[in-house]
Amino acid sequence: MANPTRKKLFIKTYGCQMNVYDSARMADVLAPLGYTATETAEEADMVILNTCHIREKAAEKVFSDLGRIRPLKNAKDNMIVAVAGCVAQAEGSEILARAPHVDIVVGPQAYHRLPEMVARATRAREQVLDTDFPAEPKFDHLPAPRADGPTAFLSVQEGCDKFCTFCVVPYTRGAEYSRPAADVLREARILVGGGAREITLLGQNVNAFHGEGPDGSTWTLGRLIRALAEVDGLARIRYTTSHPRDMDDDLIAAHGEVPQLMPFLHLPVQSGSDKILAAMNRGHTADDFRRIVDKLRGARADIALSSDFITGYPGETDKDFDETMELVGDVGFVQSFSFKYSPRPGTPAALLKPQVPDDVKTERLHLLQQVLDAQLRAFNTSCVGSTFDILLTNPGRYPGQIVGRSPYLQAVHVMADPKHIGSIVPVKVVSVEAYSLGAVWADNETKAASA
Ligand code: 5AD
Ligand code: SF4
Repeated sequence: MANPTRKKLFIKTYGCQMNVYDSARMADVLAPLGYTATETAEEADMVILNTCHIREKAAEKVFSDLGRIRPLKNAKDNMIVAVAGCVAQAEGSEILARAPHVDIVVGPQAYHRLPEMVARATRAREQVLDTDFPAEPKFDHLPAPRADGPTAFLSVQEGCDKFCTFCVVPYTRGAEYSRPAADVLREARILVGGGAREITLLGQNVNAFHGEGPDGSTWTLGRLIRALAEVDGLARIRYTTSHPRDMDDDLIAAHGEVPQLMPFLHLPVQSGSDKILAAMNRGHTADDFRRIVDKLRGARADIALSSDFITGYPGETDKDFDETMELVGDVGFVQSFSFKYSPRPGTPAALLKPQVPDDVKTERLHLLQQVLDAQLRAFNTSCVGSTFDILLTNPGRYPGQIVGRSPYLQAVHVMADPKHIGSIVPVKVVSVEAYSLGAVWADNETKAASA
């Protein structure tokens, strides 16, 4: 569109990295309409809440935020309020009924149609609901992404066919879909051309990737990673989130064979009890998980692991929980996310009886988090004195300070000139903060971190 009127767009992102990626793509798709980003809803001509439905708290937050936006909308003539993401997908018409000031409800598979929805909402002043799963993939209709700094996300896979009994994702994000490898490679080259040095491949079940290869065969994630490693200038590759069932031997081998593939893996296990894992429909046992970890460490000795855990799944006994604690002790994670089980409407586990009482869930969560936190601190402390390469990503909080990213995904502070942002530099770790490391640039030990 020539000379579009300048308008401000505020997007609030809840939940996972998939949503962070989708928010950026929604901004891209709306840019030709004249929308540029703003940091506050007060300034905005359009507000998008990109929502998460994974746990009850996340979903309820959307309605309280919508309540806060209502007076802003009433005070302005033409403000557009849109709800996107998984709450939109799951509760579309209920949102329009509960919050009549919402103009657009758009599911994750329909973002490419946002410009049309905006036009309908403004011209016809009607509420627009689009939560269809289109026959043609939305990726074909989204503009090419732009690199925004040295790290970038690249969505390669969406949806999930695993149907873990606690999880809404197969319902909100739909069936598994993998993008053709050629599209992924083209997008990676564009991102690298725009300055990205590190790309994180995204998917709800990223290692279930089975995209069409340029030769017509089906490519696995391992194959895709090996091809991405050939992209000139792409120094680092990561992928998230994975399922233990899809950790095939070739992908594991890639960790030992592809130097660009970073030695950090987020591999959710949820529980260490075989009984609970079976009830969750995870399709593997605790020992299967241990074997995968052994193989990964066989391929890449320094690989650091992170995971997701749920406490208080229906039927979880003290013994089951002890088995989770045992698994955590056996494996040793460097960073983890843990949650109280939250019954989600429409999922099989929500109907199970008896549910675990909330105080038991909470107590187990605290016990688990204490151990996971101690493991995180022990790992960070063990890094002191070691030297590794970090990718300098952005200015730090203090003058002269730059934040970088370690191979193990830790935030690392060093003193360096901002002109080095985007470079990968060797540093020696000298201190540990709560959730980050302090380091000196190994070539220049006088540049000690002040934090
Ligand atoms: N309750 C609690 N945690 C959940 N997760 C997914 N669904 C639920 C639920 N109903 C957690 C899982 C998953 C992570 C993204 O969120 O641990 O790996
Ligand atoms: Fe949800 Fe399980 Fe699919 Fe992960 S694998 S998105 S937890 S259903």
